[in-house]
Amino acid sequence: MQLSGKVAVVTGAARGLGRAYCEAMAQEGALIVAADLNACDETIAAIEHKGGRGIAVAVDVADSESCEAMAARAMEAFGRVDVLINNAALYAGLKGARFEQLDEAQWDRVMQVNVKGTWLASRAVVEPMRSGGGGSIINITSLAAVFGLPYGLDYVASKAAVIGMTRGMARELGADQIRVNAVAPSAVMTEGTEEFFGEKFERAKAVIASNQVISRNLEPEDLTGTIVYLASDASRLVTGQTHMVDGGSWFL
Ligand SMILES: NC(=O)c1ccc[n+]([C@@H]2O[C@H](COP(=O)([O-])OP(=O)(O)OC[C@H]3O[C@@H](n4cnc5c(N)ncnc54)[C@H](O)[C@@H]3O)[C@@H](O)[C@H]2O)c1
Repeated sequence: MQLSGKVAVVTGAARGLGRAYCEAMAQEGALIVAADLNACDETIAAIEHKGGRGIAVAVDVADSESCEAMAARAMEAFGRVDVLINNAALYAGLKGARFEQLDEAQWDRVMQVNVKGTWLASRAVVEPMRSGGGGSIINITSLAAVFGLPYGLDYVASKAAVIGMTRGMARELGADQIRVNAVAPSAVMTEGTEEFFGEKFERAKAVIASNQVISRNLEPEDLTGTIVYLASDASRLVTGQTHMVDGGSWFL
């Protein structure tokens, strides 16, 4: 198993991609800290059903004390933190609009959760990672940032910031043997994506698939191989990179 002995913290783990990352890493032997604003009981049940182990932790990634408490809980339960996946984000419920009509309060909240939350959660686990000899931070960005998705400039800006933060953090943390990478999925068939596109879901699915050289929509399981690879020692000299998992929509 590729992740035996590692402890992985996943934010936004209550459903969707976060849950899929938890299940995949648990199957590879990682001990999981499933963290979310919402209850992660179903995520933990799915992990245990497959013979894995994990704990659920309540967190608001936009709140520094809450992030510190998440890291402390991980240390209390498992004694180390090797992997952090910054997956929590405002995505599903966002109201799209032309850039001059976007809601200002939504803009601020997106920055607090998607950008500041990535910083705060990372900051909380860096000391445990240092004391454990290193680690892997995986920031979830999006094809939207690279492509420049229209009618969602707040989301696009937040995910572009995550790519910049990945590069800056990788430079700062390399000396501590902490790697920092970003993963940029195309639209993945989650309940969040269905909510995001609303009544345009079927049309969006077709357009997105037709822009991929491998022309089918992504399922959560299409992401998990990249996540396990970046969490594992197989990627031990890979850092600062943005990994497109998009069926070949965009070539960096
Ligand atoms: N699904 C896609 O097509 C897709 C594509 C590209 C990138 N992404 C990114 O992947 C991630 C997950 O996508 P998803 O479809 O599972 O999204 P989702 O909206 O279904 O899940 C996001 C999770 O984050 C949690 N969350 C939100 N705010 C939080 C906060 N302040 N603190 C803690 N948890 C919080 C939510 O409760 C939810 O469980 C997001 O970062 C999203 O931007 C998704």
